[in-house]
Amino acid sequence: MASRIEPFIELENLEKVFTVRRKAAGLLRREKKEVRAVDGISFAVERGEMVGYIGPNGAGKSTTIKMLTGILTPSGGRLRVAGIDPARERTRLAQRIGVVFGQRTTLWWDLPLKDSYRLMHRMYRIPDARFRENLDRCVELLELGELLDVPVRQLSLGQRMRGDIAAALLHDPEVLYLDEPTIGLDVVSKARVREFLSHLNTTQGTTVLLTTHDLTDIEQLCSRVMVIDHGRLMYDGKLTGLHAVGESERLLVVDLERELPPIDVPGARFVRSEGPRQWLAFPATASAAPLVAEVAAAYPLIDLSVREPDIETVIAKMYGGTRDERRESLM
Ligand SMILES: Nc1ncnc2c1ncn2[C@@H]1O[C@H](COP(=O)(O)OP(=O)(O)OP(=O)(O)O)[C@@H](O)[C@H]1O
Ligand SMILES: [Mg+2]
Repeated sequence: MASRIEPFIELENLEKVFTVRRKAAGLLRREKKEVRAVDGISFAVERGEMVGYIGPNGAGKSTTIKMLTGILTPSGGRLRVAGIDPARERTRLAQRIGVVFGQRTTLWWDLPLKDSYRLMHRMYRIPDARFRENLDRCVELLELGELLDVPVRQLSLGQRMRGDIAAALLHDPEVLYLDEPTIGLDVVSKARVREFLSHLNTTQGTTVLLTTHDLTDIEQLCSRVMVIDHGRLMYDGKLTGLHAVGESERLLVVDLERELPPIDVPGARFVRSEGPRQWLAFPATASAAPLVAEVAAAYPLIDLSVREPDIETVIAKMYGGTRDERRESLM
């Protein structure tokens, strides 16, 4: 019997329940409360994929990543990364994964950047030649050359983040988890980090799981996106497919020869006008061609263009509805 080839990362009904104790008003004893941070999540990621993992605050993203690294032990379900159970063999897994938590550094605060790297060299027992090669590559691509002698606490946020990304890659991990790697960065630093990640994924084939609140990260890097909310997977598919789920609309911007009453054609909804320019909305999943033909046939046209919906609006709509509504829209 042929054995099944396992996906690189595989979750089956993964759960994490936290028990929090809090002091309830009027009671002497503390009250126990359960938080289902991850509430039965299943997905598989193949080697070399670059996947976005998004959702509102408190959705369970970081908790999932902590279980994927072995930092947290699942309360239920099954989890494998590179065939390894992270919670049971955390040290063995550490040789094969890299992780960046944007909100806190893995670097030594008081040491110059290069000393942190030296410590990692020893901690991960990275062969000398490989260490040097990886460090040189990261220093070049992440422009760290002038920062190597600077203590980490003196680095700017963007510099520190690049330093952290390099630190996560010195031992050639097969998978890189990034938990908000662009948080707080300016536009230029974000672009630099994105470019680096894209390069890493294409040239080294590194599997990447990326958590972010910046949807441009996802638009530029990930063809696949998973949306989670309240510890559950709400969507898993192409970024473009989110439009269908979020019932988003595209806009047709029409420039007429002169100011006219609202354009009235089937399949589109008049949104607003400004002098001879009018905006019409139509479903993002529909083709613009017949609509353009109708408008062109019935109105004196100078120019037109189609505007794509922005993902942010689409996701906001998804988060906004009740869970049952969203469930239905996913069916
Ligand atoms: N150690 C913990 N003890 C108790 N509750 C926790 C713990 N860690 C996380 N939680 C709770 O689990 C839920 C999910 O948290 P998590 O950090 O995974 O969310 P997140 O999706 O990463 O959110 P954000 O976008 O704000 O980073 C939250 O309700 C959080 O309060
Ligand atoms: Mg988080």
